[in-house]
Amino acid sequence: MTNSEQLKGKVALVTGASREIGGAIARELAARGASVAVNYHRSAEGAAKVAASIEEAGGRAVAIGGDVTDAAQTAEIVAATERELGPVDILVLNTTGFSNHLRGPFLGMEVDALVDNMAAQARAVLRPVAAVAPGMAERGTGAIVFISDSFARTQLVGTIGHGLTKAPMESAMRHLALELGPRGVRVNTVIPGATRSPNLTVSAKGQHDGKLEPVIQATPLRKIGEPQDVANAVALLAGPETSHVTGAFLPVSGGLLLL
Ligand SMILES: NC(=O)c1ccc[n+]([C@@H]2O[C@H](COP(=O)([O-])OP(=O)(O)OC[C@H]3O[C@@H](n4cnc5c(N)ncnc54)[C@H](OP(=O)(O)O)[C@@H]3O)[C@@H](O)[C@H]2O)c1
Repeated sequence: MTNSEQLKGKVALVTGASREIGGAIARELAARGASVAVNYHRSAEGAAKVAASIEEAGGRAVAIGGDVTDAAQTAEIVAATERELGPVDILVLNTTGFSNHLRGPFLGMEVDALVDNMAAQARAVLRPVAAVAPGMAERGTGAIVFISDSFARTQLVGTIGHGLTKAPMESAMRHLALELGPRGVRVNTVIPGATRSPNLTVSAKGQHDGKLEPVIQATPLRKIGEPQDVANAVALLAGPETSHVTGAFLPVSGGLLLL
């Protein structure tokens, strides 16, 4: 089976697919044959570009707007995906859970803002699962992939916001793997380390500001990741080569996170 046939006939919904990492995931799933719903919240133009690039490459994609922290909008995103493409076989939970103003040490941070952020990420993960998993379970097949963050398991001063936001969702993935496994639904997690994105102020050519140098030096492979590195891992966990894998956590961090 070639790569382009691995996900043939499958429908994938990628939440938060309008920017670098989500866009790369959507494109990779499409390159492997899936029809892809490119969800976005505010970046309609970004999502349209991702969908257009997939179609130009001969794939099938639709951009579908909506806030996945909201129950009614999530139901509409799933309904639109099913209308346009068919029942969802692959759900990728990529939405960032993190507000930039929560970067920094705990002391001085607004507790309510931190807790609100945790709740927003929980909604953005659990609502799409609640909307899609019953259909997967009924059909006896499905793959769910959550995008976590290495700071769910390790720490630097200033990253408590990332950790508190993602770690509870890693627990949710364990519970979901246990509950949904007997119904044929696999639940796995990709854990990126520092990955090129506007949040990291790294250009497409890999130039970076000085602040990343300590991270690069602490990384065994001595570089930050590319969105494509995350996308490759997601496609692997969504596809037939990992059909006996569930409840797994795969770091894509150049060795920065060692489990
Ligand atoms: N970049 C890194 O170094 C890094 C490291 C570890 C983990 N990660 C994880 O990798 C994932 C992608 O990160 P990123 O840096 O690419 O993030 P990003 O550039 O901030 O993109 C986040 C995406 O989430 C979408 N989103 C946010 N809230 C949403 C909502 N309520 N409903 C629907 N979509 C929503 C955004 O959509 P709109 O733009 O359309 O609003 C955007 O497409 C995140 O889960 C992040 O935690 C990233």
